[in-house]
Amino acid sequence: MGNLATKYLDLTLRSPLIVGSSRMTSTLDHLKEAEESGAGAVVLKSLFEEQINQHIHSAQTSYGAYPEADDYLANYIHDNSVEEYIELVRNAKKSLRIPVIPSINCFSPRGWTDFARNIADAGADAIEINVFYMPVDRKKTAAESEKLYFDLIETLKKTIRIPIVLKIGYRFSNILYMIDQFYIRGIRGVVLFNRFYEPDIDVNKIEVVPASILSKENERRYVLRWIGMASAQDIKMDISASTGVHSGLDAVKYLLAGANSVQVCSALYTHGIPFIKKMNGQISEWMDSKGFNTIDDFRGKLNYKNYGKPAFFERTQFMKYFSSFE
Ligand SMILES: Cc1cc2nc3c(=O)[nH]c(=O)nc-3n(C[C@H](O)[C@H](O)[C@H](O)COP(=O)(O)O)c2cc1C
Repeated sequence: MGNLATKYLDLTLRSPLIVGSSRMTSTLDHLKEAEESGAGAVVLKSLFEEQINQHIHSAQTSYGAYPEADDYLANYIHDNSVEEYIELVRNAKKSLRIPVIPSINCFSPRGWTDFARNIADAGADAIEINVFYMPVDRKKTAAESEKLYFDLIETLKKTIRIPIVLKIGYRFSNILYMIDQFYIRGIRGVVLFNRFYEPDIDVNKIEVVPASILSKENERRYVLRWIGMASAQDIKMDISASTGVHSGLDAVKYLLAGANSVQVCSALYTHGIPFIKKMNGQISEWMDSKGFNTIDDFRGKLNYKNYGKPAFFERTQFMKYFSSFE
């Protein structure tokens, strides 16, 4: 039977499957279930920048730092305490053998960054930073928006020594340039990609509503190319794939494209955390059927550099694709 062990951020994972940040990783019971089901690591549900900054300003009686905070934000901050989060990191490290990666969701490098040290001190193996930055100001250039990421990294690198992973979206002018710039600034891994909240419109109610919260398998099409391209670069930046993994074979696709690990979220909401075990079995069976003994035997085999037909990632394929479609 194939050996699923792999390296991610220099951590040894017994499986490339990581339970992605969500409610599935918000309690110690869920985390234990993930470990029992064979997950290689867990990324904890995100703590939000707003929560941390509120915690820092807790001497103030109102939501002073967020005078515009609506009831939802006020209640969320109240119900999800920062102390509990740190306690979860500590307890997870005490109870689990697999790596524990806490996560912070932020949109600016202001205020909260020193707090990352508390997370590192609680024993985290690495930290995942989910940047949910919306460029809504039409007068701001792409370079100005990108600088926000660089400022954030610079501040964090001065604060903590554990590996920092950036979970990013794909809406950059040049993703490969950004990944390269992250690497130069000391980032060890990227999650490709975050799946942002998107609005939809309910035409019956004539209201704006959230688009589907869980992913579909066909969303992988936006991700595979960039994993295939990014993993072919001449830098040691680890890649964790995220979005649209609904079976072990979906994970195999990302590994073939060059991912070091694969995060799973929606599939576990649908089938439950023990589904990880089935997915590991599917990866193993596939490896056996193809004669691969280890993940490294096939990781990146089909990335931009290693696959004999790089045009599949390029414009020429796009031309062929549409011109041959009758
Ligand atoms: C209900 C739900 C809650 C999530 N919460 C977080 C979160 O707190 N932090 C985060 O970085 N990602 C969060 N995500 C995003 C997932 O970690 C993941 O990146 C995304 O769902 C795409 O993966 P999937 O196709 O396997 O679902 C959440 C996703 C879902 C569905």
